[in-house]
Amino acid sequence: MIFIPMWDGSLGCSSYLVGDSAGGKALVVDPLQNLGADSYILSAAEQGLEIVAVVETHVHADHHSAARELAEKLGIHVSLSHKAPAAFAFNPLHDGDVIDLGYVSAQLWETPGHTPDSISLLIADTTRSQEPWAVLTGDSLFVGDVGRPDLADPTVDAVKAAARDQFQSVQRLMNLEDTTEIYPAHYGASACGGLFLNHKPMSTIGFERKWNRFVQLTDPEEFTNQLLALLKPPPEGAAAIRSENLGQDA
Ligand SMILES: [Fe+2]
Repeated sequence: MIFIPMWDGSLGCSSYLVGDSAGGKALVVDPLQNLGADSYILSAAEQGLEIVAVVETHVHADHHSAARELAEKLGIHVSLSHKAPAAFAFNPLHDGDVIDLGYVSAQLWETPGHTPDSISLLIADTTRSQEPWAVLTGDSLFVGDVGRPDLADPTVDAVKAAARDQFQSVQRLMNLEDTTEIYPAHYGASACGGLFLNHKPMSTIGFERKWNRFVQLTDPEEFTNQLLALLKPPPEGAAAIRSENLGQDA
């Protein structure tokens, strides 16, 4: 498996190029406009990979996505959860769907909470094991934290419902083995996380099970109360960025 994290430290955003070296196919997850669509094409070409899927773990509100530009250059549609309210044509993904790259695959789990359309991708390399080796958690589970529930709809009832969804999604991710690596969409000072978001960009399910304060909360009400009490201010221009990423600027 070829696995290349591509980071933008200025905003604390992570994107990923995941490929199968044998078959030469790759997918890109959460490409960033700050890095530029071409950087993903070049990185893939350097590895002898053809990008066959561009996936967003959710519609982002904190940074400008390069997903549509990249997909257009490749002549494909962006892949998003079927729940994404995007204004452009996209490839709708459902729980359990598998993006098959050959020996490497990405299975989709719907993990709503941060947004209704949030997904996680379980990455397996069958030359090593059928078991997922890593999970790209988007804004569902962070290193030391979980995603904020207030960016898709900031009304009080919606935020509370989203926080309860986030609880269920985090608990679902905890069904994975301790050895599973986690690669979230954000780290460091990102405004998509809370006060406990770590600067380390990756972790494991086992480490988060043991040391992530939100993972350890077993009562959904307590989880919701703590998540809301610890919210940071929303990212600057969040509504406008989300609207652009939804294609509502067209
Ligand atoms: Fe986000």
